[in-house]
Formats: sequence, C-alpha cells, structure tokens
Amino acid sequence: MRKIKVMTIFGTRPEAIKMAPIIIELNKQKEIFESIVVTTAQHRQMLDQVLAFFDIKADYDLNIMKENQTLTKITTDVINGLDLIFKKEKPDILLVHGDTTTTFAASISAFYNKVPIGHVEAGLRTFNKLSPFPEEINRQVTDVLADYYFAPTMDAAENLLKENHDAKNIYITGNTVVDALNYTVKEDYQHPILDKLTQTSKKILFTMHRRENLGQPMQDVFESVLEVVESNKNVEVIFPVHLNPKIQKLAKQVLGFHDRIHLVDPMDVIDFHNIASKCYFILSDSGGVQEEASALKVPVLVLRETTERPEGVKSGILKLIGTKKSNVKQAMEELLNDVEKHKKMCNVENPYGDGTASRQILTILQEKYTQTEIINEEAYEKLRLSY
Ligand code: UD1
Ligand code: UDP
Repeated sequence: MRKIKVMTIFGTRPEAIKMAPIIIELNKQKEIFESIVVTTAQHRQMLDQVLAFFDIKADYDLNIMKENQTLTKITTDVINGLDLIFKKEKPDILLVHGDTTTTFAASISAFYNKVPIGHVEAGLRTFNKLSPFPEEINRQVTDVLADYYFAPTMDAAENLLKENHDAKNIYITGNTVVDALNYTVKEDYQHPILDKLTQTSKKILFTMHRRENLGQPMQDVFESVLEVVESNKNVEVIFPVHLNPKIQKLAKQVLGFHDRIHLVDPMDVIDFHNIASKCYFILSDSGGVQEEASALKVPVLVLRETTERPEGVKSGILKLIGTKKSNVKQAMEELLNDVEKHKKMCNVENPYGDGTASRQILTILQEKYTQTEIINEEAYEKLRLSY
C-alpha cells in the first residue's frame, strides 16, 4: 500500500507554530505518511524563527513577502506559486491552517487542482465580515472549500454544522497550539528579559498587530499603556513588536522612551511562551495568544470588540475590552489592582484541548484514507474526477 501523501502549507508565524506539531507527528509516522512541507513565507523573519525552533525544513518555499504587502499581492502570488507545486506533487490531501490569506489562497488553489483540503482550526467565527479583517472571510471561504474539518472546540464544530457542512467530516480535536506548548514550556526556563525585570514588578506582556487596529485604535491603545505604566510604579511591560513597519514606527514613537516599557524584537516561540507563562496578564489582539493564555492560565485583556474564541470568554480567562482609551485603561487598572478578580480569571479550565490534537488529526486521516481506499491509485483518480 502506498503512503498517504500529506502536503502542509503555511506562511505566517502563528500558522507555523500550530502546524509544527502536525509536521513533527507526520515525520514520526513515516511508514504511513509522506510529508511535503510548503511555506509561502507571507512572513519571512517571523516564520523562519519558528522553523528554526522546530527544526522544520520546507520542501518548497514561495518566498513571497514584500514590505507593506497588499492582500491582493499575497493572494495572487500564493495562487500562482502553488499551481505548479500541486501539478508536480499531486498530494492526497492539503492541510491548511486557520484564517490567513495564505490559508485562503492555498485552499482555492487546491480546489482548482482538485486536491482535497483538511482545515486545521476550522469553524472559528465572529460572523462579522470586517472583524477580524480579512480573517473572518478567509476562514469562512476556506470552510466552503474544505473537505475535512478539524475543529478545536465544540463551539467551532457547531458553527460548521449550522453552515450545513457534513457532520461526518467534522472532528473535534482540540487546538494544536496546546501540542506546541508541550514542546516549549519548561519549568526551569530562564531568559535575560526576566532577569532584567525587577522581581517584585507586575509584568504585562503586550502584543498588537491586527489590520483593523492599525492607525488610530493602535495609537489609542499605546497611549493607554503608557498612562497606566506611568501611574503604576510596580508595572513593567514587555512588548515584542510585530515587524510590520507601521507598527514598528508607532511603537517607537509612543512607547520607545519609557524605562519600564521594553520594546523588543519578535521573540522566539520558546521565549514568548515561557515569558507569557510568567506574566501577571497579557494585553493583546492576537488570536493564538488567547488560546495559549488559556492553557497557561494567564488572563488576557483582548483588544478587540469581537472574538472567535468565545470558549475563553465563557471560561473567564479572556475579557474583551476593545481599543477605546477609557476602556483599555480601566480594564488594565482593574486587573492590576483587584487581586481577587485576577485570581478568579486565572483559575479556570482550558477549553482548547489536551495537547493531542495533531496525533488525533493523523489518526483520522489514516482512517479516512484507508477506509475509502483513496490511496489505491485507481480509486483516488476516480475521486479526483468526480470531485
Ligand atoms: C498576518 C495575517 C494575520 C495573522 C498575522 C500573524 C493575513 C491577511 N494576515 O497579518 O491573520 O494574524 O499574520 O502575525 O493573512 N513583516 C516583516 N517580516 C515578517 C513578517 C511581517 O517584515 O517576518 C512585515 C512586512 O512588511 C509585511 C507586513 O509585516 O508586509 C505585514 O505582514 P502581513 O502578513 O501582510 O500581515 P500581518 O499583519 O502580519
Ligand atoms: N509569538 C511569538 N513571538 C512573539 C509574539 C508571539 O512566537 O514575539 C507567537 C505566540 O506564542 C502565538 C503566535 O505567535 O503562538 C501568535 O501570533 P500572532 O499574534 O502574530 O498572530 P494571530 O495568532 O493573531 O494570528
């Protein structure tokens, strides 16, 4: 019996972090799977940091990143670049992750090439077309194109069922980011940043990068952070600044001169996860950070009006605060000064899985492909033609 040829594709830092455990698992099961890794390099440096940590080498690298790239350019470069690779490799399945423009463009290209698609982290929704932008539509379209759905939670699976996706192709696996934490978080972890910060200070980890938050919302949040730090002498902020030039410029302008606000380069994932686990709380508009913080039991003030991670809000570890100055300042002050509230936010169950998502996904693929005899060449060709 020939091996199941699984192509994985990703382009940004978070996709890489969440696909890495699957690639590691594919490599452990070489007698069953052939793994082809494709990176679009929608991100370059921030992607390479992740590849280096997990020791992943891409079989194909489209290397598309441009400074201040547009959504159109990312989309067209990915579609053009992938077409040839699909024609050459003819994978049995393409695994895409989440909701980036790489995800959407790779899915449409797979569809044009009649390659079945497995969507990892399927079913997340805000049902608000513009928030997050363009991710909500990227993931909805990806789910229209996908064949197999690896939903991290029951809420995500329910969204897929409501959209009439076939229940027999929807699996609840947990989120692979929890698998990734098993590779990174260490009891005895040390880092110069943590040594440098005074032991008694309350450390806040801060990240912000969403497209819809660029400009005034980001300026308002940065100013709020500065004011809160100024009025709380025992607070230090660690801010690994996204490499987007617009964010770099504003961060340096507004936050670059305070001795208790530490602007640093994007951190290696091992550093970020371990530092996150030691912070008092996190302030962020990130998607992945909301799940990680839930697993690490560190509260997150979410700089957004909506979230596709309602489980974390229900559990109590996430609080949506938006980006208005008064709301951000009030939420930060409250969490810094109300010890009971902080304790309550930390003390919750993690709804994002038990760290076995990647193994579950491969077991499902093996069962699906063996049952339907897709790996028999003739049956597979028939499936392609009827597709
Ligand atoms: C992208 C994803 C977003 C995801 C985020 C994770 C889309 C439309 N957006 O947004 O869903 O949450 O990644 O971080 O898919 N840059 C570098 N080096 C890097 C990475 C980025 O210089 O390693 C700069 C480039 O100038 C690039 C810009 O950042 O043009 C923006 O990157 P882009 O991938 O377009 O958008 P993100 O905001 O990172
Ligand atoms: N992350 C990292 N280094 C950093 C900041 C974040 O490795 O300096 C990781 C973080 O642990 C999480 C992912 O990047 O796994 C989140 O990426 P991001 O916030 O850029 O994107 P999103 O999850 O919002 O799509």
